[in-house]
Amino acid sequence: MRHLMSPLDFSVEELQNLLLLAGDIEKNPAKYAHACEGKKLATCFYEPSTRTRLSFEAAMLNLGGNVLGFHSADSSSAAKGESVSDTIRVISCYADICAIRHPKEGAALVASQKSKIPVINAGDGGHQHPTQTLTDLLTIYSLKGRLDNITIGLCGDLKFGRTVHSLINALIRYPNVKFVLISPEELKIPSYIREDVLMANHVDFVEMERLEDAIPDLDVLYMTRVQRERFFNEEDYIRLKDFYVLTQEKLNMAKEDMMVLHPLPRVNEISVEVDDDPRAAYFKQAQYGVYVRMALILTLLGITVE
Ligand code: NCD
Repeated sequence: MRHLMSPLDFSVEELQNLLLLAGDIEKNPAKYAHACEGKKLATCFYEPSTRTRLSFEAAMLNLGGNVLGFHSADSSSAAKGESVSDTIRVISCYADICAIRHPKEGAALVASQKSKIPVINAGDGGHQHPTQTLTDLLTIYSLKGRLDNITIGLCGDLKFGRTVHSLINALIRYPNVKFVLISPEELKIPSYIREDVLMANHVDFVEMERLEDAIPDLDVLYMTRVQRERFFNEEDYIRLKDFYVLTQEKLNMAKEDMMVLHPLPRVNEISVEVDDDPRAAYFKQAQYGVYVRMALILTLLGITVE
């Protein structure tokens, strides 16, 4: 039995197979419409979510399966003090596969150790968000045709943004990927990523503060929201929340074929005027999230479709 805790749980070759499967699902949805008949996905969400939970549920429904679950800690027995380990033991009796989101780093790992069904980490605190990374990889691969030889700018809250941490872990495995890490001083990438991931693997990266300085060289710009819920005080959040706003004027400094990604939800960091620019790919990205989660569910359940 396999779980997904981090994007590194798949080898580069396995990831490639997953992306190809997602591509086939996009082209031939009818072929997969009954693949998970009789199977159930549990979504156990202890933290708010729109895309991740609903795209998992849409993915399972598109595969002909069923879904059950809870969407907040308050509406589960967590409110009565039940541990994640006990909850997953029980969910294992009700479902065939489970996606879990929790505010604590490592919660999905704890669940996977007690589970009898595959567990997918759908975000654990400020740590990792591997299925967003699968979504990001599929979007870049589908729209750019490659995952190697790119310069990617990651902009915003690099300290608390789990999508950024997972994406860096995944992309360093491809040749000639250069990272431009754009953040205010207070929201710089944590040292466990800078030292243990980037420097330890001799990856090409620079850190800068001004988006305007970085933008002309980028092939991909990955914007992120300042993660309000992970701040210790509201004043710091208010001071930093509008540090970056991608406007059409700034986008005009970028390459013609640069793509703008964002895991969403957006707050103010991308002006709505940018949505109409052909380089804005963040809503397409949300669509790719369904295909890749369909591919992931099939892979973890060991279901092949001929
Ligand atoms: C992200 C998350 O939950 O980390 N959202 C998502 O899953 N698409 C990003 C965010 O909340 O800012």
